Amino acid sequence: MTIKDGRIRVGLIGAGGIAGAHVKGYLANPDTTILTAVADPIPENAERRAALAGARTYSSYLDMLADEEIDAVDICLPHHLHKDAIVAAAAAGKHILCEKPLCLSEEEAVEVERAIRAAGVTLMCAHNQLFSPPVAKALELLESGLIGTVYEVRTTDSFFNDFNPETMGWRASAATSGGGELIDTGYHPTYLMLQLAGGAPVEVTAMLSTHRLKFMEGEDSAQVLVRFDNGVLGSLVTSWAYASSTNTERFSVVGELGSMFSDGTSLSYTLRTGEKASMEFPPVEEFAAEIGHFARSILNGTRPIHTEKEGIEVLGIILAAYESARSHSFAPVRSVSAATVA
Ligand SMILES: NC(=O)c1ccc[n+]([C@@H]2O[C@H](COP(=O)([O-])OP(=O)(O)OC[C@H]3O[C@@H](n4cnc5c(N)ncnc54)[C@H](O)[C@@H]3O)[C@@H](O)[C@H]2O)c1
Repeated sequence: MTIKDGRIRVGLIGAGGIAGAHVKGYLANPDTTILTAVADPIPENAERRAALAGARTYSSYLDMLADEEIDAVDICLPHHLHKDAIVAAAAAGKHILCEKPLCLSEEEAVEVERAIRAAGVTLMCAHNQLFSPPVAKALELLESGLIGTVYEVRTTDSFFNDFNPETMGWRASAATSGGGELIDTGYHPTYLMLQLAGGAPVEVTAMLSTHRLKFMEGEDSAQVLVRFDNGVLGSLVTSWAYASSTNTERFSVVGELGSMFSDGTSLSYTLRTGEKASMEFPPVEEFAAEIGHFARSILNGTRPIHTEKEGIEVLGIILAAYESARSHSFAPVRSVSAATVA
């Protein structure tokens, strides 16, 4: 595939809620991207998103995938449709940006990995919170060794979600969402924990609860403990039932030389030497940063920060959390290894 004039031509698959933020992300990256097409079976949805970018519309993404002009697709579908779209896009030779979760089961993960490997395309997980300035700064400081060996990571993503049975749609059913809140919003604090921990997840124990959104089939809240292979322990809290109490960290990291704390907009650290610092950041549009990173990865042939490898590790943590909650035990994180896929 030859990329024309230094810009990737992208077809959007799924033109619902989050697609709006993605379209703005393409418009914010005119030097490296062009949103060329939008596919959605609901014509109003497709047209509403396409109109902003002057893109053409398709009712079926399979027809869109036949378009040779398109270099990459951006999957913004309900969760149970991710795997098929990834496999079809890879088979058509398109690079892929995929909203979370990557897919829903170990079997689907094997299919995804096999399809990406066979096609030799790049898949990036749309893990937008990695592009928030405090996260990016924390990762840079961890890399510099500021707090030494990391011991523990905590992440939180909880908010009062005003879904009701009429507005919840496919998210209310485990067959289409893959579970409940944990595999949806809970994916964010899981990939954030993975990146801050810097190791591979090994085992998990979890408790799920449903405090308020009783009409959901899955949980509306979860608390999860994860052990990583480098010795880091991670804990996360995530909920649609309630917002966190004041002063709860969005993320924190403790290591041998000190600790870091973020409320989601600022970042501070305290070292055992007594040195302290607190940083504020100008607001950044995370989806624009994510899409810019995706485009540069394709154009420069560099690895995106999270590919299917990390997407599968995050899924592994979440599936182990569900297994642990069901069995009231520790559950191993099953890896989708080369041996499984071969
Ligand atoms: N990163 C974030 O902060 C964030 C926020 C919200 C949603 N999301 C993720 O984005 C994805 C979509 O969520 P949403 O809230 O936009 O859902 P949505 O229900 O608002 O939109 C889904 C869209 O997909 C379309 N669709 C259904 N079947 C299709 C098919 N076969 N081909 C093409 N289009 C099809 C629907 O018509 C709809 O327009 C999910 O994976 C979700 O977890 C991420």
